[in-house]
Amino acid sequence: MRLLLALALEFLVCSLITGQQMQPCKSPPYLMGKLLVSLEGEIKLWSYEYNAALQRMRVFDTKNLTNQSITWDYLLHFGEGAMYEMDVLTSTCSKRPLRTDYQPIGIPDHATFMMPLVLGILSVPSAGVQINSWQGYTLRGEQYSKLVTEVECVPYHTIFYTEKHGEVVMVFLNSTMHRTALDDLSPPRFCPDQDAHPTGRPVDLIELVSESKARDLRRALSKLINIYMNNYSSL
Ligand SMILES: *[C@@H]1O[C@H](CO)[C@@H](O)[C@H](O)[C@H]1NC(C)=O
Ligand SMILES: *[C@@H]1O[C@H](CO)[C@@H](O)[C@H](O)[C@H]1NC(C)=O
Ligand SMILES: *[C@@H]1O[C@H](CO)[C@@H](O)[C@H](O)[C@H]1NC(C)=O
Ligand SMILES: *[C@@H]1O[C@H](CO)[C@@H](O)[C@H](O)[C@H]1NC(C)=O
Repeated sequence: MRLLLALALEFLVCSLITGQQMQPCKSPPYLMGKLLVSLEGEIKLWSYEYNAALQRMRVFDTKNLTNQSITWDYLLHFGEGAMYEMDVLTSTCSKRPLRTDYQPIGIPDHATFMMPLVLGILSVPSAGVQINSWQGYTLRGEQYSKLVTEVECVPYHTIFYTEKHGEVVMVFLNSTMHRTALDDLSPPRFCPDQDAHPTGRPVDLIELVSESKARDLRRALSKLINIYMNNYSSL
């Protein structure tokens, strides 16, 4: 029993020491793939592109409905604190202030290393992956937890414990790494100038997901009302 205790203690001390030595890792500079966001019991699947050098991210989604296609397309310029919301079909674009909380990719300098983990099993080829978990606090003082792969620091899973929306989970799927930027994620020509001052209510990534969810709901409601009205007027 005493031996077990001693072993446990030694393990704890070792992990504390190695924990102190772990430096926040840098995620690959150019990534793209799918970003699944779970917020207030609903799940949204976006496509994403990320450019670490320019601190830019694009999240977008296109849905083909029977007659029309709906797009959500946002450019997040974390460095400049600006967000562009684009509609390529109508060539409209707005530029809003972007808060830099809730950046899902990358381990911030002041994050704390928690522990290494294995997802699945390592003794069978391709059946497991070694993961590191990190924890920290956003500028607003809300806690987050991030899981990245041990090799290459590829983002895998991020949880933000937000005051407004509770636990928000982001999972990265089908990510691909690129040696060079596929796209510099600059706004298209129909957007306000890059020098133009962003206007409107400041947003962040989680707020965008929440807004697009609200828009989905409004669309569904208006469809219901239409159906109701059609039937009502045909009486
Ligand atoms: C939607 O339709 C367009 C053209 O009709 C097509 O290019 C695109 O791949 C479709 N998107 C999805 C998600 O099915
Ligand atoms: C789809 O488009 C056709 C032709 O533009 C139109 O007649 C029809 O009402 C539309 N259907 C719906 C469900 O919007
Ligand atoms: C992820 O990748 C797999 C394998 O390439 C593919 O079959 C699947 O459709 C992809 N899923 C999404 C959501 O893109
Ligand atoms: C209107 O109501 C009838 C009877 O409830 C239903 O069969 C029909 O599908 C409705 N029409 C539309 C456009 O939903």
